[in-house]
Amino acid sequence: MTLHNDRILRALRRQPVDRTPVWLMRQAGRYLPEYRASRKRAGSFLAMAKNPELACEVTLQPLARFDLDAAILFSDILTIPDAMGLELYFVEGEGPKFRHPVRDAAAIAKLGVPDMEGELRYVMDAVRTIRRELDGKVPLIGFSGSPWTLACYMVEGGGSKDFARIKALALNEPKALHALLSVNTDAVIAYLAAQRAAGAQVLQVFDTWGGVLSPAMYREFSLPYLVRIARELERGDGDDRTPLILFGKGNAAYLPELADSGAEGVGVDWLIELGDAAKRTAGKVALQGNLDPATLYGSPDAIRAEVRRALDSYRDGNNGSREGHVFNLGHGMSPDMDPEHVAVLVDEVHAYSAR
Ligand code: CP3
Repeated sequence: MTLHNDRILRALRRQPVDRTPVWLMRQAGRYLPEYRASRKRAGSFLAMAKNPELACEVTLQPLARFDLDAAILFSDILTIPDAMGLELYFVEGEGPKFRHPVRDAAAIAKLGVPDMEGELRYVMDAVRTIRRELDGKVPLIGFSGSPWTLACYMVEGGGSKDFARIKALALNEPKALHALLSVNTDAVIAYLAAQRAAGAQVLQVFDTWGGVLSPAMYREFSLPYLVRIARELERGDGDDRTPLILFGKGNAAYLPELADSGAEGVGVDWLIELGDAAKRTAGKVALQGNLDPATLYGSPDAIRAEVRRALDSYRDGNNGSREGHVFNLGHGMSPDMDPEHVAVLVDEVHAYSAR
């Protein structure tokens, strides 16, 4: 099948592009009225994510509105622990929860890697359906949570402000936590490999909570597992290689190490100047980011100015070249954002970077 737009693949290989590619984390979601309508019909977020036709429908919604350079699979990072038996559910206004969190060595010892074409077949079916419907329009991004970020939800039993339970586990029973991170890593590698086999053309790992760790703890409990994924995930060679992006919130201090991980791309948040991030990764990886999502609350003129600043910052830190940049936000969009502002952002990335 011919791919009509390969800008994101070229940018991740640090090859020249006619304009900087752009996609947005959480580009399919509640800020779109058509998403809210699909969700209402489905009944719930999980019913939508577990139905390949509906997952495909909402994946394509932002592409019909905006000139985006990639689609991202509509799913969730918590599908893996759900398939491990923890039972994911959502309470309106409270976010994700697990009916059976894992809190001790005995519970951790019982965990195994789920069957990717069994319990998680609905995810692979969604990837296959979306690839068919995209028909080569843009590449499809598959994704997973990082071993540490998944462990946060699995141990806390849901979202957390202080990460008290998992940090106590790290301090008191580091062996048990390493056992959990190890099974999570095996599962993430199998999950990403299965999404690739089903048709995903770019893979991203979300280490959303790596930044809540002290440097010593990050280097013990998150980074080594990201490196293992980058090294062990089989993803082909040359121009057929499926690029891997390691996104992390609060990862600025670790950029040189992430650049040496073997991943093709690193996603950064807005707490670092993109040009500084480019200098600190020295052309070893492509960079993805990094507008503060709150930029979308600004006026169209303010959004355009911030887009230009980020594009120029990257270029200035990358020896005057825009190569190796995938434009994105530094984290996901929120439900109260204005779709018209998204169009302003996407169009400005293309118009300004093409000059
Ligand atoms: O980017 C995309 O458009 C793809 C879809 C996607 C979702 N979740 C859909 C979703 C992706 C990539 C994710 C990843 C995810 N899920 C992460 C890592 C990324 C990040 O934001 O840091 C995390 C931490 C989760 C766990 C999770 N799932 C949370 C915290 C929530 C939000 C709960 C809430 O009420 O806001 C979810 C649910 C979820 N996942 C929604 C969407 C669109 C909202 C569901 C809804 O109510 O319709």
